[in-house]
Amino acid sequence: MTEFKHSVASSLKESIAALYPAATVSEEEIFGMLEYPPDDAMGDLAFPCFKLSRVLRAAPPKIAATIFEHLSGNLPSCAEKVQIVGGYINFFASARFFTKNILASVAQKGADFGRTNVGKGKTVVLDYSSPNVAKPFHIGHLGTTVIGHSLKLLHEYQGYDCVGINHLGDWGTQFGKLIVAYRKWGCREDIENGGIDKLVELYVKFHEEAEKDPSLADEARAEFTKLEHHDEENLSLWRWFIDISLAEYKTTYDQLGITFDSYNGESFYTDKMPEQVEVLRNKNLMKIDDGASIVDLSEYNMPPCLILKRDGSTLYPTRDIAAAVYRDRTYNFDKCIYVTSAGQSLHFAQWFKVVELMGYDFAPKLYHVPYGTVSINGEKLATRTGNVILLRDLFAVAIDKVRSIMEEKNPNMQNKDEAAEAVGVGAIVFYYLAANRVRDINFVMEDALDFNGNTGPYAQYTYARTCSIINKLGESANVSLPENAETLEKAERDLIKTFSLFPEKVEEAIDGMEPSVITRYILDLCGAFNRFYQACPIATCEDADKKAVRIALTRGTRDILGKALELICIKHPEKI
Ligand code: ARG
Repeated sequence: MTEFKHSVASSLKESIAALYPAATVSEEEIFGMLEYPPDDAMGDLAFPCFKLSRVLRAAPPKIAATIFEHLSGNLPSCAEKVQIVGGYINFFASARFFTKNILASVAQKGADFGRTNVGKGKTVVLDYSSPNVAKPFHIGHLGTTVIGHSLKLLHEYQGYDCVGINHLGDWGTQFGKLIVAYRKWGCREDIENGGIDKLVELYVKFHEEAEKDPSLADEARAEFTKLEHHDEENLSLWRWFIDISLAEYKTTYDQLGITFDSYNGESFYTDKMPEQVEVLRNKNLMKIDDGASIVDLSEYNMPPCLILKRDGSTLYPTRDIAAAVYRDRTYNFDKCIYVTSAGQSLHFAQWFKVVELMGYDFAPKLYHVPYGTVSINGEKLATRTGNVILLRDLFAVAIDKVRSIMEEKNPNMQNKDEAAEAVGVGAIVFYYLAANRVRDINFVMEDALDFNGNTGPYAQYTYARTCSIINKLGESANVSLPENAETLEKAERDLIKTFSLFPEKVEEAIDGMEPSVITRYILDLCGAFNRFYQACPIATCEDADKKAVRIALTRGTRDILGKALELICIKHPEKI
């Protein structure tokens, strides 16, 4: 609708300038004041005159009436009607505008309808997923993984160069523990076959045994120190633990269609930290507190940021600082985005401040994108590793359920496994991304899989329906839009209007770093398409022009819906 908004803003500006020569309101300001009315009966755009009543020194209804009179002889080019209701001036876009401008553009651009170049030449680094090696990849990681990847895809769609980094938690004393546990109780073959679960078991066993025998902790520390000093044997064990863990993560990433540009984890920064510790020291930013080196942040109402432990070893913030400097030098980013649970908000606020105090000019380009917690109600999901729910198990349950529904509905389906995986995983992602990211989510499997609810499966079915309509029409779907479509059914008009909002939604999702804007848009689009499909026959439509419009509407839905689903990491099979 941006085009319509611009045209309305420009007409309003002309009228206001003519009627109130003393007032200084720019077209841009007017553009910003325009609103989408809550109800179609009030038009496609509304101008609330109360926003001007102070500048123009008149009551809103008076302003509305005056401008209305002036406008009536000089309607904005895309409008077919203007109306006043109280202090509002309502604008109705013309059918011609909808078909000639919006629908024609959708027909021409297809899935690129919302694509722009605003990010051209700019680089965005995104740090997401980033699990801790040899620890379970659990539902808490769903948020960072799908929000992070979705933000990457959204930025790419706007022309940014993006670098997706999986900042693996692949360094720290837990590796000393794992090495000790492996040597005492582990078996290579077991781990080769059992994968990450076996590593987690060893880790858990270490903690149980260390309660009884505290000397184990010292042993673990000593092994980690050896690792830090490049002990060959420990290094090769460490690499192996990482490979085993990555194999598991990659299965999940494949199910989500996610890939990374870099797997540089925390260990990558070990040799890059001393330089930053030096900077902190030289700038007199560090002080010693009980043997540890810290940056005092009391002036900023935050607890101190820990840089070095008493024994001189580095910490999580130290690695983040070194990583940020490295990324700035390597990628010269315009934004560096970190997606983690809200539980880490303080950590990010602290070291962002430290980087600023160190004088790095990239500090304002760092963004922390937090999200809420996930709990699971209803069905109890079995887990093999204590009381956490693994992402893989959550996906598996959903896929199984979808497969049995499909077997019942459509036993002869060909691509059943592929479709069941796409729909099962998609259902979980959709459910997760339906709410604002900072909200805590209570996961209810039945709701996520409800094929008739506002769910992923419903959106994927709608997509498959559009594909099947176009495929069934075959050759006869290859028609171009009629030169003049002067009338539209209400359902057709509504669907085109929904199309027109897609580019704005992409922008809004990026501005707020909020993929749920797209999820909700998908529901609006599916609703608008299904109402259109109910009201307007396509294959049997006798009027060739009308039919061509309807085909374009179906194809447009297919392209935009497919793209929107893709932007939130949801696959969309053509047949389900
Ligand atoms: N590995 C951390 C965790 O699982 C998340 C890392 C986030 N990224 C970062 N640069 N700190 O909690």
